[in-house]
Amino acid sequence: MKDSDWKGVKSLSDKLGDMRRTHTCCELGANDAGAEVVLMGWVQRRRDHGGVIFVDLRDRDGITQVVFNPEVSSMVHEKAHVLRSEYVIGIRGKVEKRLEGMANPNLKTGEIEVFATELNIFNAAETPPFMIEDNVDVSENVRLKYRHIDLRRTLLQKNIINRHRAAASVRQYLNSRRFIDIETPVLTRSTPEGARDYLVPSRVNPGLFYALPQSPQIFKQLLMIAGFDRYYQIVKCFRDEDLRADRQPEFTQIDMEMSFVGEDEVMDIAQGLMVKLFKDVLDIDLNVPFPRLSYEDAVGRFGLDKPDIRFGLELVDISDIVEKAGFKVFSDAVNKGGKVKALNAKGCLNFTRKEIDDLADFVSVYRAKGLAWIKVHEESWQSPIAKFFSDEEKEALARKIDMQAGDLVFFVADQPKVVDEALGHLRNLLGKKRGLIQENTFSFVWVTRFPLLEYDENEKRYQALHHPFTAPLEEDYDLLEKDPLSVRSRAYDLVLNGSEIGGGSIRIHQKNLQERVFEALGMDRKTYEEKFGFLLSALDSGAPPHGGIAFGFDRLVMILCGQSSIRDVIPFPKTQKAACLLTNAPSEAGKAQLEELSLRIKKL
Ligand code: AMO
Ligand code: AMP
Repeated sequence: MKDSDWKGVKSLSDKLGDMRRTHTCCELGANDAGAEVVLMGWVQRRRDHGGVIFVDLRDRDGITQVVFNPEVSSMVHEKAHVLRSEYVIGIRGKVEKRLEGMANPNLKTGEIEVFATELNIFNAAETPPFMIEDNVDVSENVRLKYRHIDLRRTLLQKNIINRHRAAASVRQYLNSRRFIDIETPVLTRSTPEGARDYLVPSRVNPGLFYALPQSPQIFKQLLMIAGFDRYYQIVKCFRDEDLRADRQPEFTQIDMEMSFVGEDEVMDIAQGLMVKLFKDVLDIDLNVPFPRLSYEDAVGRFGLDKPDIRFGLELVDISDIVEKAGFKVFSDAVNKGGKVKALNAKGCLNFTRKEIDDLADFVSVYRAKGLAWIKVHEESWQSPIAKFFSDEEKEALARKIDMQAGDLVFFVADQPKVVDEALGHLRNLLGKKRGLIQENTFSFVWVTRFPLLEYDENEKRYQALHHPFTAPLEEDYDLLEKDPLSVRSRAYDLVLNGSEIGGGSIRIHQKNLQERVFEALGMDRKTYEEKFGFLLSALDSGAPPHGGIAFGFDRLVMILCGQSSIRDVIPFPKTQKAACLLTNAPSEAGKAQLEELSLRIKKL
């Protein structure tokens, strides 16, 4: 048989026989010298050294060096010649301490090696499409197509094992606080969370569809009405939305709900959960209590409702100073109901014209029509707009924005949403660019009192910012009909390092208030009775005050693992086009299947 004839090896491959594993590949040390052991795993590497063959044997726990020496067994040594990367083998052998100076300090088992006396080749393997190493130089699509091989890499193994540890920690914490793990259905009705639904046709009800849940929101509320008091579930949710690095069409939530509570109790439990999780997985003690910011302050100071509070560079509203200024772009913006805000990039005087132009391009993505700037020199200002301001206005600006020699100040004038988004993202970019963000810090912040509704310009109607079941602040009830956009809600988000990792609210538990909110959302009675009649009737059957929260589990694990994409902490993730490259999903349905479902595909 030729060395390269792996199919030949396959036909020869041994059964497990009487070989049973005694250790994993990371357990043996100098103390085991002399012991007879059986190890099983994958060939990471085979090296021939003047008649002796070395194999790095790998399993999920680590690597052990196995030696095939003709002087120990010429037959086993001969057989070892056919081994190639990713062959699956079992060996029996004797543990020996490595010779002086030959120990490998980078390997947990680096003090020993195992001299093989028996070799079982359970399976051969084709040459892998990429090396099983941490920094593989191959496109993500190739990795996803061969995900079962990609998942053999130490980094991904660690991520998936940490995911398991995180889930175990969550369960332990919630179980010990009287939460009950309850499953909710996957084939259900639409649960509005702001994304499109995935639909599943019903065979036995031709023309009718289930929606996969965007979250278990309504069911967990029904469980509170049913009296379960405290519920949780680590649960898959489905949202047909445009994907990014931190979004997947199916993702996992840590979902929970509690009865007879207000905001503080839910936030306390959630904070405790984070403390436990970071301790268990990273052995880090988080600083508590997490600070709280109202939505208004978060957006006012940081431009975004998920502020990264690891650094300063806060935004300053200068609308009052420039309202009557000679610079029309600024004064017009304020007079049209907009505003002007400044961001003082401290010490950035040396930015080049090109760098500033690039930043102007960057903010244009957030619909800003320009990016005005002032460079503050010792004696003067350098700026395309300074000439438009009077001395008093300049003085007022300098004071309010704390302008010092060496600073570079940016301005955006527009409708409030555009100003805040543009400068908020610019702030994050500058924080990164200027190295203001300390790595390995975890800055949590609660953002509270979101607006209940927002106006959707495309659809020309109000939409729930969170979801339609979130309670308004009691003092704002009267505004529901009078001034819907100014109604604040009892919603809260938990933000970590500028990423929204969880969100929840105190819910509406009375039918009448729920109907008023449906109406504020532009639904008539017929529509909401048809869509949510079951919930309204449940609210009228004895619904306790209740509230809860859901965490994005993948995002949390991503941060715990120090990764920048949730795909690296999901075993089998989907691509930007929502495809599974491994199984080639989605795929066409057969004619017979479509017929059974009473479906016809429209030719495009
Ligand atoms: P929300 O829609 O804010 O709230 O979702 C909760 C958390 O889930 C995560 N998340 C996602 N993660 C990955 N991919 C996605 N496509 C995705 N979408 C959301 C986010 C988010 O903070 N039922 C409410 C919760 C409640 O009110 O209790 C809900 O689903 O981290
Ligand atoms: P212009 O008068 O259009 O030449 O603009 C003068 C400066 O103001 C340039 O630096 C523009 O980038 C900036 N600018 C224009 N529109 C805005 C705006 N809406 N907000 C902030 N700066 C702007």
